[in-house]
Amino acid sequence: MKLEELDWAALDRLRDLFLASQPIRSTYWRNSHDLACYDATFGERIGWKWDAVLRALIAQTQGIWRPPLGPLLDFGCGSGIAGRRVLSAFGASTFSALHLHDKSRLAENFAADQAREKFPGISVACGVPEVAFESGLPVTLLVSHVLNELSTTDTRHLMSLARRASTILWVEPGTSLASRQLIGVREALKGEFAIVRPCPYQNSCGLLNAARQTDWCHHFAPPPPGLSMDPFWVRFARQAGIDLRSLPYSHLVLARPDLVPPGLITDRTGEHRVIGRPRSFKGYLELLSCGDEKVEPLTLQRRDKPELADQLEETDEAILARWMIEGRRIRSGVIIEPPSTALRETPL
Ligand SMILES: C[S@@+](CC[C@H](N)C(=O)[O-])C[C@H]1O[C@@H](n2cnc3c(N)ncnc32)[C@H](O)[C@@H]1O
Repeated sequence: MKLEELDWAALDRLRDLFLASQPIRSTYWRNSHDLACYDATFGERIGWKWDAVLRALIAQTQGIWRPPLGPLLDFGCGSGIAGRRVLSAFGASTFSALHLHDKSRLAENFAADQAREKFPGISVACGVPEVAFESGLPVTLLVSHVLNELSTTDTRHLMSLARRASTILWVEPGTSLASRQLIGVREALKGEFAIVRPCPYQNSCGLLNAARQTDWCHHFAPPPPGLSMDPFWVRFARQAGIDLRSLPYSHLVLARPDLVPPGLITDRTGEHRVIGRPRSFKGYLELLSCGDEKVEPLTLQRRDKPELADQLEETDEAILARWMIEGRRIRSGVIIEPPSTALRETPL
């Protein structure tokens, strides 16, 4: 879409609704141009978050794991950007069909048209795949940036679909509220599913500890290169009042235990997920580390491991590492994720 085709009044209205972050009773899509403008802007930014999550998921599983052959259900699909990103990442033939569900029929139809155009080979339908659920086909449930719009009843409905799914791919904005809601989902489903991402352990979330109440689980996706020179995005960022470089998200990937290859979720003792980003100070870095069933703040003195400190600062995607710790001080470490950083390992 060209800059001059954007409906700024519609985008302003949508931004205000999203920022309010409250259950929304009515549908806010007024016409397909609203959806096209969203898809090219807010939606595309959400697409970058999905790209980061899917890239990391595929790298984590060394490209061997994918959702089982069955329908992909995009719940609260909006313009359908998340479903299309998932189809692109795993290949459309990974899924038997794409089901687009939204409380707005306009959104479902828009998303269906976009998907048919991009993936002409896949069967596309609107609504929940009831027949597939009833016949026991493995349904992959995708949820993106929906949770804070749902009423209690809507959330209950979504959770009932989640309990019938075989795999769940879920991305929400990286706000404290969205993260805490997603932690609630994790805790509710952890008995039935294996937690594939982002947690390096299967037991209760370490952020539920009373001492960690002001923290939340979030990571950052890198924006595409050259974004700050692109007139479309510069104008959009100014108008929408957003920082183009900051793409925070919270995410959760769950799968039925029998669908997860051995080794993917076991033997992860000692792996630590960095929550958010390391914070740089003169002479040292501070980070919040989640592993071995707890979340704790750690410090790395630059002089102890200057190369590791540089790697941690340079990495703009979710970090997974092994630390050698003394008290709260990182003495050494190996970055496991993202893999491009792992190539330049600092020996323990
Ligand atoms: C912020 S948009 C996100 C759209 C899309 N998932 C994405 O990531 O770009 C939220 C979407 O959820 C839909 N939605 C809100 N409440 C819903 C409900 N109870 N059932 C189904 N869809 C709902 C809205 O109509 C809207 O399309």
